Amino acid sequence: MRETGYSLVELANGTRSVRSATQAETFHPVIGPVAEAEALYVRQLRLRERIAAADGEFVVWDVGLGAAANPLTLLRCTRDLRCPVRLISFDQTLEPLRFALRHRLELGYFDSFEAPLTRLASGDGQTIEFSDGARRVSWELVLGDFPALLESTTIGGMPKPHAILFDPYSPASNPEMWTLPLFERLFGLLDPARPCALPTYSRSTLLRVTLLLAGFFVGRGGATGEKEETTVAANTPALIERLLDPPWLERARRSSSAEPLRQPVYRQERLSADSWARLQRHPQFAAAPSAGPSHGRPL
Ligand SMILES: C[S@@+](CC[C@H](N)C(=O)[O-])C[C@H]1O[C@@H](n2cnc3c(N)ncnc32)[C@H](O)[C@@H]1O
Repeated sequence: MRETGYSLVELANGTRSVRSATQAETFHPVIGPVAEAEALYVRQLRLRERIAAADGEFVVWDVGLGAAANPLTLLRCTRDLRCPVRLISFDQTLEPLRFALRHRLELGYFDSFEAPLTRLASGDGQTIEFSDGARRVSWELVLGDFPALLESTTIGGMPKPHAILFDPYSPASNPEMWTLPLFERLFGLLDPARPCALPTYSRSTLLRVTLLLAGFFVGRGGATGEKEETTVAANTPALIERLLDPPWLERARRSSSAEPLRQPVYRQERLSADSWARLQRHPQFAAAPSAGPSHGRPL
């Protein structure tokens, strides 16, 4: 079942997911698209409660639309709520979405969204609006290279998000989506008065240091299937249940892979002296007792 570089794979629990041959990666590889989206985004971010309590529309940035499992799961799990939802999806290609639509029956998560998604998949710059349960949904598609878009003036005029579903491929195969400049820009685009959380499936020290240095508060995220831990970042500690603590910081100092990527090239390096100094000044750690003497190389 291979077309345009994508194929369907059956996961251990019997669910189907999409695989990219070019990246040699399966989307939502452990427990499948719907279960992962429910655990990582909907339940972990308490999206039902946040959307129900929102004043006006609830804005979600969906970074890496892919086969649309994340935004569709979010919509399905909140469709009884009245608050309007505005989705803005970013991707550089519509191929995985078109592939998924052709295999909607096997994937099983399109439900009644097939018609709006077919319209969304029809081209660039699409904004579609439709009624979903008790509320209105507005869904904009922004097609192009996400790091380049962040550097453009277009992005500054977009509605500020309450939540970001951040789901590119892994840092090793998609390094341009995991650099410190990218997350600094993303953080700078948030509205400080609008609490916003960004969960992602990685729990790597490199990613967590990157998010902290970009300005986010960062915590341990819940498990998704076989992954015992994920990561949640936010522009306020109030949205994070388990903030990374000083013992984590000390482990990061000793890690052989903690220094953020500054260029879109994957590599593993220990923390630089400058990054270590900046981490210690981060408000998440600055109030905590000093991390103590170095156990590794002098910084
Ligand atoms: C793992 S898939 C996303 C799966 C998707 N969230 C879902 O629920 O089906 C990663 C997506 O990130 C997109 N992506 C990777 N690098 C990108 C870039 N530089 N700019 C925009 N999108 C990118 C890919 O095209 C791909 O669709």
